[in-house]
Amino acid sequence: MGKNILTLTDHRTGETYELPITNGTINAMDLRKIKTHADDFGLMSYDPGFKNTAACKSKITFIDGEKGILRYRGYPIEQIAEKCSYLETASLLVNGELPTKSELGEWTWNITHHTLLHENIKKFIEGFRYDAHPMGILISTVAALSTFYPEAKNIMDAESRLLQTYRLIAKIPSIAACAYRHRMGLPYVYPDNDLSYTGNFLNMLFKMTRPKYEPDPVLEKAMDVLFILHADHEQNCSASVMRGVGSSHADPFCATAGAAAALYGPLHGGANEQVLRMLNEIGCKDNVPAYIKRVKDGGVLLMGFGHRVYKNYDPRAKIIKQIADKVFEVTGRNFLLDIALELEKIALEDEYFIKRKLYPNVDFYSGIIYQAMGFPVELYPVLFAIGRTSGWIAQWQEMLLDPQQKIARPRQIYLGEEYRDCIPVEKAGDPTEA
Ligand SMILES: CC(C)(COP(=O)(O)OP(=O)(O)OC[C@H]1O[C@@H](n2cnc3c(N)ncnc32)[C@H](O)[C@@H]1OP(=O)(O)O)[C@@H](O)C(=O)NCCC(=O)NCCS
Repeated sequence: MGKNILTLTDHRTGETYELPITNGTINAMDLRKIKTHADDFGLMSYDPGFKNTAACKSKITFIDGEKGILRYRGYPIEQIAEKCSYLETASLLVNGELPTKSELGEWTWNITHHTLLHENIKKFIEGFRYDAHPMGILISTVAALSTFYPEAKNIMDAESRLLQTYRLIAKIPSIAACAYRHRMGLPYVYPDNDLSYTGNFLNMLFKMTRPKYEPDPVLEKAMDVLFILHADHEQNCSASVMRGVGSSHADPFCATAGAAAALYGPLHGGANEQVLRMLNEIGCKDNVPAYIKRVKDGGVLLMGFGHRVYKNYDPRAKIIKQIADKVFEVTGRNFLLDIALELEKIALEDEYFIKRKLYPNVDFYSGIIYQAMGFPVELYPVLFAIGRTSGWIAQWQEMLLDPQQKIARPRQIYLGEEYRDCIPVEKAGDPTEA
């Protein structure tokens, strides 16, 4: 093993530079020493979409995209999904270690006792149109929480951070349920503290006239595992937004609203909604080859396929496929599964997908389960947001406590007009006038 040094020669000047390599990276600021003359700004790297730029050091989530590995704080996702609850996972992500029995008890008690929404929040939700997308309601209402808890701006106070953490993890399912029931024209349901985190969420969504809602244990467990699988995914688009907004020292409610907005897009958390729409559009197994042809011709994307990091089967998709069988035993088989399986089979054998290393991602099968469980399509990104909230908080807190972090502020390559004088409109004339 040689020295951890990168030697660069700038052929514009003939100068040679030695840049230290640490953790497999060079420090981008070292590039600025590479200049053609004293007034030169120095070299930068160009990386739209941050495809090869590490913006932070993190100890939360590890992904090996080539091998299809995902770990939270070192624990393989397969083991966490099997052995932990979502709230244990949330504690692991936010606090760094799996909680002891008493720590978990305290964590669960605090989250359970912050699920109620201020009555004015409900009035706020009332103001949305009857057909408002629940994700739009969620984003706006989470931002509105900032006005209810102004002390949340004390971001450097550990006690305040913990309180806002309880509130965010607890209230996001309550807001999500209100958003859903508002759309359905149903009265809001108060949280039931006797139920688990996930059981209570199902209660707030689906309770009708019976005095007590009893969640189906298989569906409750499936939903809990889905929350776990969505809890964190290192520096994805929404986590980067959480860190970016948080880096200006905005409060965590505003930062979470920003992260949720990023999640809404069809290339991120909105993909599961698009997968369902795509499967419905395909309609039956026989139409799959024609759809694959459209994808290869560049007409449409195969939603739920491909990933910026995974160049192998997404490990979360494997776990979801197993859950699907258990869910379908309770709900009956979703016919869309057959279309999805056929799509997967054909795509995995096709040169187009093999060459580009496009495999099913987490969203490919999750929508089919959600539909079987009775969730409307518009709620899918909201379900993703509930699980991801703990990851966002973990990322936000790590960023805040990292002394090397600064306000997020990328550079640009300016290719616009050079200096020119501004001519007042009355003197400029109109090129269309003869
Ligand atoms: C996730 C995603 C945004 C990653 O994008 P990315 O890392 O920027 O990858 P690129 O868009 O550069 O894709 C590389 C190549 O694969 C193709 N490709 C990527 N995803 C594809 C898909 N789902 N269907 C068809 N082709 C796809 C691109 O067209 C590109 O082909 P080209 O090299 O001929 O131009 C992208 O795969 C996608 O849009 N997937 C569908 C949406 C989805 O499921 N999102 C959920 C992610 S969890």
